[in-house]
Amino acid sequence: MLVVKNATLLFLSRTIVRGHALLGDPAARLFGMSPTRDPYPTYESVRERGPVVRSRMGLHLTASHELCNSLLRDPGFGPMAANELSLIDSSAYVGTRRLVNPVEESFLVLDPPDHTRLRRLVAPWFTPRGLRDQVATVERVVEEYLDEVSGRPTFDLVGDFAARVPIQVIADLLGVPDADHAAFARWGGALVNALDGVRDLKEVRALHRGLREFEAFLDDLVEHRRRHPGDDVVSRLAQHEDLRREDLIATTELLLVAGFETTVNLIGNSVLAVLADPGLRERLVDDPGCAEDVVEETLRLDPPVQYTVRAPFADTEIAGTRLRKGTPVVLLLAGANRDPAVFADPHRFRPGRPDGREHLAFSAGIHYCLGANLARMEGAAALRGLFRRFPDLRAAGRVRRRPSRVIRGPERFPVSTGAAKHRPIVEIIS
Ligand code: HEM
Repeated sequence: MLVVKNATLLFLSRTIVRGHALLGDPAARLFGMSPTRDPYPTYESVRERGPVVRSRMGLHLTASHELCNSLLRDPGFGPMAANELSLIDSSAYVGTRRLVNPVEESFLVLDPPDHTRLRRLVAPWFTPRGLRDQVATVERVVEEYLDEVSGRPTFDLVGDFAARVPIQVIADLLGVPDADHAAFARWGGALVNALDGVRDLKEVRALHRGLREFEAFLDDLVEHRRRHPGDDVVSRLAQHEDLRREDLIATTELLLVAGFETTVNLIGNSVLAVLADPGLRERLVDDPGCAEDVVEETLRLDPPVQYTVRAPFADTEIAGTRLRKGTPVVLLLAGANRDPAVFADPHRFRPGRPDGREHLAFSAGIHYCLGANLARMEGAAALRGLFRRFPDLRAAGRVRRRPSRVIRGPERFPVSTGAAKHRPIVEIIS
């Protein structure tokens, strides 16, 4: 893949990618086109061409469930940061001070034994037992934010609700004081560009500013927690004298980005699915218990993380295609989730389908999402709370999608609560 370090070369390489896209190259179509376009037809065309497709851009892609699943579990393959597929090398513009980039240095992209050592440090917060303590907190947070939008005829489902729940939950888990939550959300937003690969110099600067500010904040927080430990993740990491500063920062950044930028989209995509189907909305209002199934089916049909990347440690062969050591293979998780070899009627949103948990939205193997059960719990609590409070919830304007290829979900989603309908009655009574 091309990696360019100045604006002229960036323009030229974008033109080349667009040319390949027009010639039907699937990787060029995916990475060259607007990130807000519907990617699902491209995933279908990749799968129709065979289990693995070679692109002129030096990438291999697969949307086969069987192949994605086996590569994710294959010890001969390791993760590669998805941002390495970006045209811009974000490190090209770093100033004199080296910054820790979570997507390049956290355990998300490390191999054993470092991966195992670091994952183990934070795993206790995500076990079923660890999560049991979180349920009441999550439900309280959901109700608090719903209280704030109650009485308003419309609100932005993402900014006013879906984004606030996970940020509060992850900030509490990490031990970030309430006063810093707004800044914490801002850094999370900047860091998500690290996942996708930055697209222009403005984003590079925003990413570096976010990283710099977050590192300074964390250094202070760690100092504070060393002196006043709580039962949060940062306090625990701060007690490990032998943990390198870079590992501590990268782990905390990973939890911030993974815990915040994904769950917000799970909530957004679930609500999009429910509002698109009046029968489903009625079902959810009558039986809030089906929220878990709706969340699971959203994870399958429209997952927040669309793809990940793996590369072999040595020359090898997959599905009859030879791969040289280090060749990136893009695993289209969202495409695998619609593979008819596994899911009957794969394009239909059918909560409670018998094979509903076979999806790869949370990956598989040693990098299986650590926060999967937390995300499921937050998603279901948000849906239950939302439709209990606003059974007449409706879309109230154009949905704007996130400009990202890795992360999929609404960035702005105006909804109406039905409150306007009832206002005259309230006025007569009062
Ligand atoms: C709907 C929400 C979420 C989705 C779709 C999601 C998806 C994923 C995926 C696909 C991976 C693996 C990437 C790969 O194999 O290359 C992953 C890893 C990870 N996720 Fe999530 N995630 C979600 C929520 C969360 C939450 C709430 C947290 C924590 C607060 C979290 C923490 C992590 C961590 C720490 C990893 C790295 C695991 C490892 O490398 O061992 N995620 N997630």
